[in-house]
Amino acid sequence: MANGIRLDRVSKRFDHTVKGEVYAVRDVSLGVGQGELVTLLGPSGCGKSTTLRMIAGFETPDEGTISIDGQDVTHVLPNRRGIGFMFQNYALFPHLSVFDNVAYALRVERRDEKTVRTLVEEMLAAVGLSGYGRQHPHQLSGGEQQRVALARAVVFQPKVLLFDEPLSNLDAKLRLEMREQIRELQKRVGITAVYVTHDQEEAMAISDRIAVMERGVIVQSGTAQDLYYRPATEFVARFIGRTNLLAGRVLSPSDVEVLGARVTLATGRPAGSAVRLVIRPEMIGIAPAASSIPIGRVEQRTFLGEKTDYQVSLGGERLQVAATDHYRQPPIDVGQSVAVHFHPEGIHILD
Ligand SMILES: Nc1ncnc2c1ncn2[C@@H]1O[C@H](COP(=O)(O)OP(=O)(O)O)[C@@H](O)[C@H]1O
Ligand SMILES: [Mg+2]
Repeated sequence: MANGIRLDRVSKRFDHTVKGEVYAVRDVSLGVGQGELVTLLGPSGCGKSTTLRMIAGFETPDEGTISIDGQDVTHVLPNRRGIGFMFQNYALFPHLSVFDNVAYALRVERRDEKTVRTLVEEMLAAVGLSGYGRQHPHQLSGGEQQRVALARAVVFQPKVLLFDEPLSNLDAKLRLEMREQIRELQKRVGITAVYVTHDQEEAMAISDRIAVMERGVIVQSGTAQDLYYRPATEFVARFIGRTNLLAGRVLSPSDVEVLGARVTLATGRPAGSAVRLVIRPEMIGIAPAASSIPIGRVEQRTFLGEKTDYQVSLGGERLQVAATDHYRQPPIDVGQSVAVHFHPEGIHILD
């Protein structure tokens, strides 16, 4: 059987004091290939941690099966699954040195001390902490502690690595550094990994594939590009990136009308049909318009360095517009009338 992780129609219910029996996870099927990193992404309470905890063995599914490298582990104890963890609340052992923290799993496996030394030193070097072996956790910064946690999770060469919001206690800059380090190490070592986060940008940066969860169900899975350009539902469109969800009307086999503009777009639907369109902020262009043809009006402008965000009112909608060519154009002032152009290449039609 194939290597990697396989969840087959997994469900988990909890008894809730107020709501009664609730499904934390419902009928979830998911495959994670050997060496692949898949992220479970969704808002708080959607069932990400419960799914991860079932893979780890800390929870048992009510229905369905979980296998790792072809072996059914649904009822196997956590410490028999060959899994490394990096959880937000899975702290280092405070009384152990950095070296002993990283060495812990190897000593549980009764590896000889020479091997332990070699592997731990290698691992500390890999996370940029050579020479930190004698330090204790309280002497380290938050970022350094998380690197020790990463080293501890990877050192015993687990079959699978699981991450549950491992970076949420770090400041923004450290979060970026750590996610790159995690990604780099995971690829280099080639470990199969499942990563949980509610942060869509983190998910896009770190994952081979993303599974978006909503109320216990995986609503769509795919690459970051799939989810961004071809969201299956309005929920996914709104959760991944910023979006304009606009009503359109099919004019002809190759034309759609959107907020009074005619856009070249083949929908495959009969003339007169109503369609829902996902139009990302960078797919809308604006240019100063002569006052005789006021089309949209700039309501807000935010310079963000790599782009300038505008809010433009048009036909009762408030459009999110991102200008990435702003270094070549003079900024458009708030209150100015603008001609609005929808770039058809990236427009997605929702079912
Ligand atoms: N041990 C538990 N007992 C009762 N309800 C739980 C338990 N664990 C999770 N839940 C409920 O299951 C749902 C999913 O929780 P969780 O998997 O932690 O979501 P997430 O990690 O996406 O925020 C939530 O409604 C949560 O309250
Ligand atoms: Mg959680």
